[in-house]
Amino acid sequence: MAVTPFLAVQERLKLNVHKWQDVLPENNLGWEIIPQLIGNHPSHFVDTILELQQFGYTRFNWNIGCPAHQVVRKQRGCGLMPYPERVEAVVNEVLGKTDCRFSIKMRLGLKSPEESFAIMERLQDYPLDFLCIHPRLGVQEYEGKPDLETFRRLFEMSRNRVVYSGDVFDVDSFQKICALVPDLQAIMLGRGILRNIFLAEELSNASRVNTIDKSLLQNDLQERFLHFYKDLETMMFATRGEHALAPLKELWHYFRFFWNVSDENLQILMRKTTWNEFSVFAYSLMH
Ligand SMILES: Cc1cc2nc3c(=O)[nH]c(=O)nc-3n(C[C@H](O)[C@H](O)[C@H](O)COP(=O)(O)O)c2cc1C
Repeated sequence: MAVTPFLAVQERLKLNVHKWQDVLPENNLGWEIIPQLIGNHPSHFVDTILELQQFGYTRFNWNIGCPAHQVVRKQRGCGLMPYPERVEAVVNEVLGKTDCRFSIKMRLGLKSPEESFAIMERLQDYPLDFLCIHPRLGVQEYEGKPDLETFRRLFEMSRNRVVYSGDVFDVDSFQKICALVPDLQAIMLGRGILRNIFLAEELSNASRVNTIDKSLLQNDLQERFLHFYKDLETMMFATRGEHALAPLKELWHYFRFFWNVSDENLQILMRKTTWNEFSVFAYSLMH
């Protein structure tokens, strides 16, 4: 299952279905996705959810964790975490006026972990789908280490299901969080699965992989990556044309780890200005 990048909620008359290409079911065949929403106005959430439900979605996620300045400045994303009463107002409206399963993605707070405890208190009696917590503050962005101890306290306090997100890049980091919170039932993979698209598989196979010849496995994984990449290119170009170049460049900042791409080659790749030139050079890096 995957949560989509966020979509801004809007009042009904301003909704623009054409901006939702990434979310449409026909562009996400074969797996369940949960559309993620961002905003702060209760009725805009209801309008947007009712519209998206027409595409068959029953589950929605609300992002109150995004630390980007332009988002925080508008009291959206993590910019809403210092205001627990506003968070509750949205949850109350969505659960009162729609029949969807609603979840929240958050950080420890914008400036202080007290913010997440205050939000948790307010939401305890609402039946959320889940609460996904990335245990850093918004002001930290991606600096420092996730605060696992505070995560554990929030996990133990919550009456809702809690999902963990943060710095799971390999089997070791996964096992560390599992050891600290043995009752944890789900984690969300972010940068880790982009650096290594087989990470979820590796985590579930952790013990078995040790018994297999790893060089054979590596060749097989490279083949599978190439299949995946071909499908990704086709899908991205079909939905966005040349505009897909910018998001594909962003993905290569993570894919480079799988192919051990040098800084120099990454820079050459980033300087490509057409889809075709980019594609030819990208394939030359994948061997
Ligand atoms: C470039 C970038 C874009 C992100 N976009 C989103 C987003 O749209 N929605 C979201 O919930 N989290 C988003 N995140 C946060 C991740 O979901 C995740 O919580 C965070 O990166 C920590 O987990 P990780 O270390 O596994 O990546 C983004 C992170 C990065 C680095």
